[in-house]
Amino acid sequence: MTLRTLDSLGSLAGKRVIVRCDLNVPVKDGVITDDGRVRASLPTLNALLNAGARVVVVSHLGRPDGAPDTKYTLEPVAQRLSELLGKPVVFAHDTVGQAAQEAVESLADGDIALLENLRFNPGETSKDEGERRAFAEQLARFGDAFVSDGFGVVHRKQASVYDLAQLLPSAAGLLISTELDVLDRLTENPERPYTVVLGGSKVSDKLGVIGHLLPRVNTLLIGGGMLFTFLKAQGYSVGSSLLEEDQLDTVRGYLATAEELGVEIVLPTDIVVASKFGADAEVAVTPADAIEETPFGASGLGLDIGPETAKAFAALIASSKTVFWNGPMGVFELAPFAAGTKAVAQALTEVDGLGVVGGGDSAAAVRALGFSDDRFGHISTGGGASLEFLEGKRLPGLEVLGWS
Ligand code: 3PG
Repeated sequence: MTLRTLDSLGSLAGKRVIVRCDLNVPVKDGVITDDGRVRASLPTLNALLNAGARVVVVSHLGRPDGAPDTKYTLEPVAQRLSELLGKPVVFAHDTVGQAAQEAVESLADGDIALLENLRFNPGETSKDEGERRAFAEQLARFGDAFVSDGFGVVHRKQASVYDLAQLLPSAAGLLISTELDVLDRLTENPERPYTVVLGGSKVSDKLGVIGHLLPRVNTLLIGGGMLFTFLKAQGYSVGSSLLEEDQLDTVRGYLATAEELGVEIVLPTDIVVASKFGADAEVAVTPADAIEETPFGASGLGLDIGPETAKAFAALIASSKTVFWNGPMGVFELAPFAAGTKAVAQALTEVDGLGVVGGGDSAAAVRALGFSDDRFGHISTGGGASLEFLEGKRLPGLEVLGWS
């Protein structure tokens, strides 16, 4: 079955439409540092507003503990959304209380409101179905129809993602459709060579996806904090670098499987090692099998792939026809350890085919490093969601919209 799309909802003029977006953007001191997810939600919101709907946007931000917490307010997002839409956005200081009710009632056709963070309410993320359903019912009072467009949360069985879709006529928004079209191109006969680049800190976050992708790709490049578990699995010393001892056997298994399948797992040949964690650390570049031979000895910390590796990864990426990248190559937030991530991002912009940035930290990284979105084939808004999709998992937020 395929996803129910917006047209399945019929005419929405004059109707109250609740839209679940993923406006979970990074906010520092009340200022949004990356508005990619807000921008990605605009096509659906504009389509609904132009159709004369009364649009009620709901979203989470961060992981508050089921209670209001000013640190996680969506108020700055309302302001940004208003700037981007070029029209007022009514902001409600609660999600299902008096303020929300008044905000929804104040809307005329073609108006829009944003309700406060869904996760200020324990029912949103509750594991108890009854509690979740009760919260979804409170939300449902505000809508005649529901549009699910928060691709970044479709892997979550949460009230506004899953239960609400069962209470109102519901369909997927344009962002979800776009994201799925791209992910389909990665899973259904991807153009070859197909290269996947994985980074980020933990192997344990990527276990499922590595296992699932191995038989499907030509080349797997490993960078980021997780690379040290791979190096250690090959018998190298890694100093004080990040290491997941409990994953060593699993990683050895992957290396063996890759060999059997003829898939190339490419590990770094050189590493940027630091005397400590910080932009003012002393730094040395060393072969990957000699991390403890820098002046910092066993206390050396690997914080980025080295220049030789960056060059090799870039060449492999740029000569591929399909590339999926998830997870930074190093601690890109600190200038001395940003070069590896920058090289990978640059190479991805040169792919003659489909180059996909897989959400979350990688999307934030490319923007922080000064790359504009239009230089990539696609920047996914869902890190966790796109990984789970590529693992072949069933995603509750899609299944409830008819996807199977
Ligand atoms: C994300 O940032 O990946 C999504 O917004 C989901 O957030 P969560 O991992 O807190 O559910």
